[in-house]
Amino acid sequence: MTTTVQSELIAAIRNIPDYPKPGVMFRDITTLLGNPRAFRRAIDELVHPYAGTKIDKIAGIEARGFILGGAIAHQLSSGFVPIRKKGKLPHDTVRIAYSLEYGVDEMEMHKDALKPGEKVILVDDLIATGGTAEAAVKLLKQMGADIVAACFVIDLPELGGRKKLEALGVNVRTLIEFDGH
Ligand code: PRP
Ligand code: MG
Repeated sequence: MTTTVQSELIAAIRNIPDYPKPGVMFRDITTLLGNPRAFRRAIDELVHPYAGTKIDKIAGIEARGFILGGAIAHQLSSGFVPIRKKGKLPHDTVRIAYSLEYGVDEMEMHKDALKPGEKVILVDDLIATGGTAEAAVKLLKQMGADIVAACFVIDLPELGGRKKLEALGVNVRTLIEFDGH
């Protein structure tokens, strides 16, 4: 069942066919971010299960996870930790390689960004194959984080990312789903 809030979020997302390549429908959240009401709704929906819970850090995945994660951190009075593509962070890092549709990439975070046992919520805009989020989860576990949840606005369930994270014992929260790519 689609709720009113879900319909509002779906309507705020722009769908761009054949981007970045033929056959792919790109779900563009810039229109949601630019819509004051939809942006607030998305953040409110993502945070409400955790209101009143002490969350030490929000870990946001570059790039769109930074925008959502910053707003969520403010709302929950948590710190924010960036998980970045390699080579962007200035201090000592922990790094992990992960698979993309074509080839591999690496992401990293500062070694001193988290203390073991800190409660962390992982945030990104979208989960597709789950390769990106899985790598982020592995990094966070390596740092000894207590991962409370992984939150995304959009799930593409056919691509299996949610199941991949759940198999790692991660509680996954998503707001809306789209079929196919
Ligand atoms: C997109 C999206 C997620 C990731 C999901 O990011 O923002 O981070 O792909 O895909 P997956 O579940 O199959 O791993 P992208 O790699 O395009 O980078 P960007 O956010 O920096 O633009
Ligand atoms: Mg991304």
